[in-house]
Amino acid sequence: MIKNSNSAASKFFTLVFVFALTVLTTNAQDISTDPAAISAGEQLFNANCKACHRVKQKLVGPALADVYNRAPSIDWIKSFIHNSSAVIASGDEYANKLYSEYNKTQMTAFSSLKDPDIMNILAYIKAETEKKEVAATPAAGPGAGTEQSASSSYLNVIMIGMVIVLVLLLIVLGFLVSALKRFLDQKDLTEEEKEIVHSPITAGSIVRSRGFMFVVVFIVAALGFKGVINGLFSIGVQQGYAPKQPIAFSHKIHAGQLEIDCKYCHTGVLKNKSATIPSVNICMNCHNQVKQGPTTGEGEIAKILEAYKTGVPIEWVRIHNLPDLAYFNHSQHVVVGGVECQTCHGPIETMDVVRQHSLLTMGWCIDCHRKTDIDTTKNAAYYDKMLHIHNGKGIKPFKVEDIGGLECGKCHY
Ligand code: HEC
Ligand code: HEC
Ligand code: HEC
Ligand code: HEC
Ligand code: HEC
Ligand code: HEC
Repeated sequence: MIKNSNSAASKFFTLVFVFALTVLTTNAQDISTDPAAISAGEQLFNANCKACHRVKQKLVGPALADVYNRAPSIDWIKSFIHNSSAVIASGDEYANKLYSEYNKTQMTAFSSLKDPDIMNILAYIKAETEKKEVAATPAAGPGAGTEQSASSSYLNVIMIGMVIVLVLLLIVLGFLVSALKRFLDQKDLTEEEKEIVHSPITAGSIVRSRGFMFVVVFIVAALGFKGVINGLFSIGVQQGYAPKQPIAFSHKIHAGQLEIDCKYCHTGVLKNKSATIPSVNICMNCHNQVKQGPTTGEGEIAKILEAYKTGVPIEWVRIHNLPDLAYFNHSQHVVVGGVECQTCHGPIETMDVVRQHSLLTMGWCIDCHRKTDIDTTKNAAYYDKMLHIHNGKGIKPFKVEDIGGLECGKCHY
C-alpha cells in the first residue's frame, strides 16, 4: 500500500520533471509556424527591434535571419533579449565576441518581454528567413504624389491635344490662302490688286498687323491677371514651408531607413485632435544607446542628451498651422477615416527636413470631402442606418460630404 503510493508519487514527479524540462529547454524546432504567432511577432518586432535589426540585413545590430540556429540556444536568446549586458558581463563567449564585433554597442534590455512574446518574435524571424526573395517593389509611400502626377499628366495630354489642333488649323488655313490666290488669279484684277494678292508675308508685315498687336496685348494682360490672382490666393498659404529645426532630426533616417512607425512618435494621432511632437523621453528610448549619427556624428545627438539632462524641452519650429478659426482632428481622419498620413503630408519618410506638402486651405479640405468615400464597413450598424435613410434620395456610395463634411459648423468653432 505504502510502496504503491510511493511509486505513484514518483511517477507524478517524473512527469512533472519531464514536462518542466520540455517547457524550459525549447529548441529551434519548437518555433511556431502559426500565422497568429507570426503576426503577433511581427508587431513586437516592428515596435521593439526594427530600429536596430532587420531579418536579412545588417543594421545597428546583426541580421537576425537564422539566429535560432546560430546562437548557443533559444534560452540564451531569451536571456540576451531580457538583459544583454548581464549575459555579456557573465563572460559568455558568444555574447562577448558579438559585442566587440559590434563596437560595443549595447542592445536595449527588454525585461518586459515575456517568453511567449520572444517565441512569437522568433516565429516571425523564422517565417521571414524562409520567405523567398520577392522582386523588390519601389517603396513609394501609399498614395504619395499619385494624385499630383495624375493631374499633371492630364494637363500634358490636354496641351499636346491643343498643339495638334493648332497645327491642323494652320495647315487648313495655308490651303485656304493658296486656293484663294489661285481663284483670284483667274479674275481680271488691276495691277494694284494683284500686288496685294501676291505681297509676300514678311516678319515685318506680321508684327505691324492689328491682329498681332491684339494677341500681344491679350497675352500680357492675361499673365498679369493670373499673377495677381495667384498672389491673392496664396496669402497665408505656406505650402513648401520647411524651417530649420533646433536639432537636425531626419524623417528620412527614422521613418524611412529605420521604418519606425509614425505613431510611435506622433502618439496623439490615435486619440486626439493633435498629432503631437514627441518628447525627449521618446528619443531617449533609443538614443541612450545610439550616440553616433551617420552624417552628423555626435553633435546633434548630444543636444538630445543635453535636453534630457537639463529638462529644457526642445523648441521644435511648428510647420503645419491652421488659423484658430478652423478645427481639424487627426484621430477622426487617421483612425475613423482611415486616411494615410502621406495623403495629407506627402512622402515624409523621404524628407531630411519636413516641408508642408499640401495647401491646407479650406478649398483643399472641401475638395477631399467631396471626393472621398467613407469606409462604411468599420461602423457597419451606424452606416447601415444612414444608408437606409439616404437610399431614398438615391445616394449610394457615401462621400464625406454626405455625413456633413461640408457643414460650416463642423470645421469652424
Ligand atoms: C538599440 C539597438 C537594438 C535594439 C533596439 C535591439 N537590438 Fe538586438 N542587438 C543589437 C546589437 C548592437 C547586437 C549585437 C550584440 C551587442 O553589441 O550587444 C544585437 C544582438 C542581438 C541578438 C544576437 C544576434 C546574433 O547574431 O546572435 C539577438 C537575438 C537580438 N539582438 C535580438 C533582438 C530582438 C528580438 C530585439 C527586439 C525585441 C532587439 N534585438 C532589439 C542592438 C539592438
Ligand atoms: C523618431 C520619431 C519620429 C517618427 C518615427 C516620425 N516623426 Fe514626424 N516628427 C518628429 C519630430 C521630432 C518632429 C519635429 C521636428 C521636425 O519637424 O522635423 C516631427 C515633425 C513632423 C511633422 C511636422 C510637424 C509640424 O510642425 O507641422 C509631420 C507632418 C510629421 N512629423 C509627420 C510624420 C509622419 C507622417 C511620420 C511617419 C511616416 C513621422 N512623422 C514619423 C518625430 C518623428
Ligand atoms: C527607435 C529608435 C530611435 C528613436 C525613438 C529615435 N532615434 Fe534618432 N536615430 C536612431 C538610430 C538607430 C540612428 C542612427 C542611424 C544610423 O546610424 O544610420 C539615429 C540617428 C539620429 C540622429 C543623427 C542623424 C544624422 O544624420 O547623423 C539624430 C540627430 C537623431 N537620431 C535624433 C532623434 C530625435 C530628436 C529623436 C526623438 C524625437 C530620435 N532621434 C528618436 C534611432 C532612434
Ligand atoms: C486629412 C489630412 C491629414 C492627415 C491624414 C494627417 N494629417 Fe497631420 N496635419 C494635418 C493638418 C491640417 C495639420 C495642421 C493642424 C492644425 O494646425 O491644427 C496637421 C498637423 C500635423 C502635425 C503638427 C501639429 C500637431 O497636430 O501636433 C503633425 C506632427 C502631424 N500632422 C502628423 C501626422 C501624422 C503622423 C499623421 C498620420 C498618422 C497625420 N499627421 C495625418 C492634416 C493631416
Ligand atoms: C485626404 C482627404 C481629406 C482631407 C484633405 C481632409 N479631410 Fe476631413 N475627412 C476626411 C474623411 C475620409 C472623413 C470621414 C471620417 C469618418 O469616417 O467619420 C473626414 C471627416 C471630417 C470631419 C467630420 C465630418 C463629420 O460630419 O463627422 C471634419 C470636421 C473634417 N473632416 C475636417 C477637415 C478639415 C478642417 C480639413 C482641412 C484642414 C480636412 N477635414 C481635410 C478626409 C479628408
Ligand atoms: C472641411 C472643413 C471646412 C468646412 C466644411 C468649411 N470651412 Fe471655412 N475654412 C476651413 C479652413 C481649414 C479654413 C482656413 C483656411 C486658410 O487658412 O487658408 C477656413 C477659412 C474660412 C474663412 C476665412 C477666410 C479665409 O479664406 O481664410 C471663412 C470666412 C470661412 N472659412 C467660412 C466658411 C463657411 C461660411 C462655411 C460653410 C459654407 C465653411 N467655411 C465651411 C475649413 C472649412
